[in-house]
Amino acid sequence: MKRVVIVGARGRLGSALMREYANEFDVVGFNHAQLDLGKPDQMRTTLGALQFDALINTAAQTNVDRCETHQKEAFALNAEAPRVLAEICAGTQARFIHISTDYVFDGEKREPYTEEDEAEPISVYGESKREGEGRALEANGSALIVRVSWVFGPDRPSFVDWAIDQARERENVKAIADKWATPTYTLDLAKLLKPLFAKQKQVSGILHLANSGECSWQEYAQCALDCCRAKGMPMKARTIDASSLAEMKSFIAKRPAYSVLSSGKYQALTGEKPRPWQEAVAEFVREHKN
Ligand SMILES: NC(=O)c1ccc[n+]([C@@H]2O[C@H](COP(=O)([O-])OP(=O)(O)OC[C@H]3O[C@@H](n4cnc5c(N)ncnc54)[C@H](OP(=O)(O)O)[C@@H]3O)[C@@H](O)[C@H]2O)c1
Repeated sequence: MKRVVIVGARGRLGSALMREYANEFDVVGFNHAQLDLGKPDQMRTTLGALQFDALINTAAQTNVDRCETHQKEAFALNAEAPRVLAEICAGTQARFIHISTDYVFDGEKREPYTEEDEAEPISVYGESKREGEGRALEANGSALIVRVSWVFGPDRPSFVDWAIDQARERENVKAIADKWATPTYTLDLAKLLKPLFAKQKQVSGILHLANSGECSWQEYAQCALDCCRAKGMPMKARTIDASSLAEMKSFIAKRPAYSVLSSGKYQALTGEKPRPWQEAVAEFVREHKN
């Protein structure tokens, strides 16, 4: 049985990986308190004492607005820490998989971003994550960077949970209609990442991975609301009204308007096509919301 280390074991994606992999792998998880991305020596000592076959780094400073005001911290956690983890894995021949983001793009395109598209971030979060990708690949030529988008799942609330709560409590709910990406279910990611463990020789560099299709936040929220109604949950709202990105005065960081990721390269490598985001949202509501 392979030993897989999950860094960020209490996060939205990390928790899902811990649970989904528990029956198949010898999983060792580290949460923030056990392994601090801001402490390179602690990472070297802790991980250096352990034998493992693969390490997946899901931990990061994911608060996009905080990154804008805490630049040094953002680069320490999102850029330097992945370099250190990549270096540790290079030293032990372990597979290193690092999770990155669609926010490395400026959002000017209107068709899915491929791995060949230039990453031109418009926020400190995006810059720090892009820098982390580069540093990890420089430190470890076999590293695999997996960019994901709009991650949701049962282990930590995200936009979709907020939208459902709003729609339960009030008749009028608004969500942004001029920003597009693809919701990506943590339980799907757990399955989709697995074939990449073994392909260390064939698959390195950058890979995009998301559920299929694309939508705005408004369409995403509407789909979740429809699924809740179909399940018989009492919802006050019937429709989600449109608002615009420009109306979001509370946002500190700029967000890309369009950041849909093409999973074409992933499909070509594995022969697997991620299912449509609507199916994933429907399953999430069916199995995890009540
Ligand atoms: N969420 C999205 O929509 C989205 C979209 C695109 C890409 N991504 C990427 O996907 C990955 C997983 O995201 P997620 O949604 O699972 O995020 P998350 O729920 O915010 O999880 C991130 C984890 O990192 C941990 N962490 C933060 N600072 C740390 C530190 N100094 N040392 C150790 N651990 C630390 C957090 O622990 P504490 O909470 O205890 O601090 C948390 O468990 C990240 O790389 C993120 O950039 C996410």
